[in-house]
Amino acid sequence: MQTVISFKDLRRQRAELEPPVGLVPTMGYLHQGHLSLARRARQECSSVVATIFVNPTQFGPGEDLGAYPRDIPHDLELLEMEGVNLVWTPSAEQMYPAGYQTWVKVEEVTLPLEGGMRPGHFRGVTTVVAKLFNAIQPNRAYFGQKDAQQAVVIRRMVRDLNYPIEIVVCPIVREADGLAMSSRNVYLDPAQRKAATVLHRSLSAARGAFASGERDAEKLRRILAETVNAEPLARLQYVSCAHPEQLVELEGKVSRALLSMAVYFGDTRLIDNLVIGE
Ligand code: PAJ
Repeated sequence: MQTVISFKDLRRQRAELEPPVGLVPTMGYLHQGHLSLARRARQECSSVVATIFVNPTQFGPGEDLGAYPRDIPHDLELLEMEGVNLVWTPSAEQMYPAGYQTWVKVEEVTLPLEGGMRPGHFRGVTTVVAKLFNAIQPNRAYFGQKDAQQAVVIRRMVRDLNYPIEIVVCPIVREADGLAMSSRNVYLDPAQRKAATVLHRSLSAARGAFASGERDAEKLRRILAETVNAEPLARLQYVSCAHPEQLVELEGKVSRALLSMAVYFGDTRLIDNLVIGE
């Protein structure tokens, strides 16, 4: 496994890779969720490139950029074990040199949900992912359903900008008690960690209601909200029952929907989602 930092070294090593090339973009502090993407890429591609970059432009003021957990040596060990060929860990100075002023901005699908709560977040995500795509020119790129809106936004960008890249979205990897794996789970104290299972419990409750015939979007949102609100350590930010591709909030009878939510435990903000009706 090669590890490179500069654009120049990246280009040199990239040229040596046998196609098809799969890309796994990450912000590091890797867990089994990230590794599931690398594993899938390994199965489907001749070469796998992973990137580790805590992208400053997707964090808002007051978010956890400075505190974001990092452990590059351990990440490299894990990626090596997954058979990744090349890891790029660019510096913020290279990605965003002084005077930087060029952005990739996807419109409608970035407005609701996470985009509504985190203004500017998706502009940072699409800009950095476009830069990764340009530099690496992968044939396929792997993203997690954990960040459902991010996957929708990236698919839109790829279509709109004619990137010849296949986007592969992989299922959410969860802890044994249902909590979706996230680099941010390390912020939780033991009581919050236990309470955090409420995200998955509320999604399961809504899925159960849907399976028993409940089709009303507002009622499904209410089940999500009531389950979360019954947990004293949880502070609900939003719940949603939205169209899985357009991400607009649904009203009335639904046949397929993306259920999603954001919940605070102290200062830690967690998200989770589930598609029903598939
Ligand atoms: P990061 O949060 O490090 O996540 C990297 C990738 O891993 C994303 O595609 C995310 O959806 C996926 N992932 C995270 N937790 C997962 C889980 N429990 N199960 C399955 N997949 C999971 O998402 C980002 O970084 C950044 O926005 C990035 C795309 C790298 C751009 O900066």
